[in-house]
Amino acid sequence: MTAVPDYYYNDDPKSFGYSTARSRWPKILTQAIADAESVVGAPVRAAYIAGLESILDQINADATVAPFTDADVAANPSLATYNHSLASLNRQRQLTWQTGPWLYLECHLYAMIEALNLRLHANVDIFSRLKDSTFRQSAAGVAELAKHVNHLDTAPLDDDALALVFREFIDISLWGNATDLSLLAGGTTIDEIKSLQGKQVRKQNEQNILVNDIDAVWRQVRSKPPGRIDIVLDNSGFELLADLCLSVCLLSTNIATEVHLHCKEIPWFVSDTMPKDVDSLLHQLGDADFFPPDPELTTLQHTLRQYLDRGQLKVDHHPFWTLDLSFWHLPEANDLYEDLLESNLIIFKGDLNYRKLTGDRHWDPTTPFTTAIQQLASSKLPVVALRTCKADVVVGLAPGQWQEIANKYTAMGHDGHFWVASGKWAVIEFSPGDANKV
Ligand code: F6P
Ligand code: MG
Repeated sequence: MTAVPDYYYNDDPKSFGYSTARSRWPKILTQAIADAESVVGAPVRAAYIAGLESILDQINADATVAPFTDADVAANPSLATYNHSLASLNRQRQLTWQTGPWLYLECHLYAMIEALNLRLHANVDIFSRLKDSTFRQSAAGVAELAKHVNHLDTAPLDDDALALVFREFIDISLWGNATDLSLLAGGTTIDEIKSLQGKQVRKQNEQNILVNDIDAVWRQVRSKPPGRIDIVLDNSGFELLADLCLSVCLLSTNIATEVHLHCKEIPWFVSDTMPKDVDSLLHQLGDADFFPPDPELTTLQHTLRQYLDRGQLKVDHHPFWTLDLSFWHLPEANDLYEDLLESNLIIFKGDLNYRKLTGDRHWDPTTPFTTAIQQLASSKLPVVALRTCKADVVVGLAPGQWQEIANKYTAMGHDGHFWVASGKWAVIEFSPGDANKV
């Protein structure tokens, strides 16, 4: 049995956590403070801004990480899990913002913002302005995708044609993740983000999928009569649109009879999808003040509404997704686990979900995916990660592949070590859920 390696820590200059804690988090919070002017209601605005400023100060001062208060835990019982993890991590070494484990602290940061929200009864998504303004600028990519899915040939297709359509929309969903808003805090421009959205670019990017288990995923889907497919969503806006187009593809071709979308319950990692973001997107597709009027957008809006009304498309949420815990603990979240056992395939979108699948640990890059996801590999849940690489951890690579890509990234004029956090490469990694079959 492979020993489980240690976490990535924020004081390791070779970890992307190092610059995240020193540069990305402060930028994200500074933007949130500015946005509070328009997003937070006047009666609590000043207190909300003061709360965000205090979080920013604690990070910049590398303060000791404080547990949540009893009142905070009473308002949001999930925070008890955080306090439990924090106490246990503190037993190894006292956590401070710039030295502690990256994944735990990043989750703790967003849980703090939500605790502030609850304490003040502010009831806001502080990232909503940023979510909307970025989505609005994706108009060209949105129109292209809507047209594509609206004109999908749904006449009964033979198995080869179905496999092709499935691959294409999985690909669209995968690269939709390359556009997440947290990249903006790292200096990526809107134009660079938009350029990731076109069909041509997706084709070119195919060679950047370093591990591609799509054939095994397709075999998994076809091994059962058409049933339910789940998507554990990542970002709202363009990525959500790509995931909704994947859902339409699955339903309209009868590859699946139901698609369940799993959202976050609180504002999370800036751009993650909350249930209200699905509603907003549906509204925005038909809002002439948001996108230039386009019949393709209203057709897609109509199709999505129909699937929602018929219950074939479901919008779910669960507090488990915003705990600090790795997804190795999924079988302990009884109701969610029982529910997911009904699924033919669970698609995990994006970088953070991948970090949680692998525990965000220093796995050797050649470690099999089924080893890195630990007990999830024998949980009976068939899972696939669609992940563009935006953090340190990566598994399932061939011997020498990590270094080969690092050399390429160096030749592109970057610090080669950080290719893995650049968002330019991706992996599609599958576990059937039955460790014996692996
Ligand atoms: O701030 C860094 C980070 O949290 C990384 O986990 C990742 O690079 C990104 O932000 C979130 O990415 P995603 O939206 O794909 O989970
Ligand atoms: Mg995200």
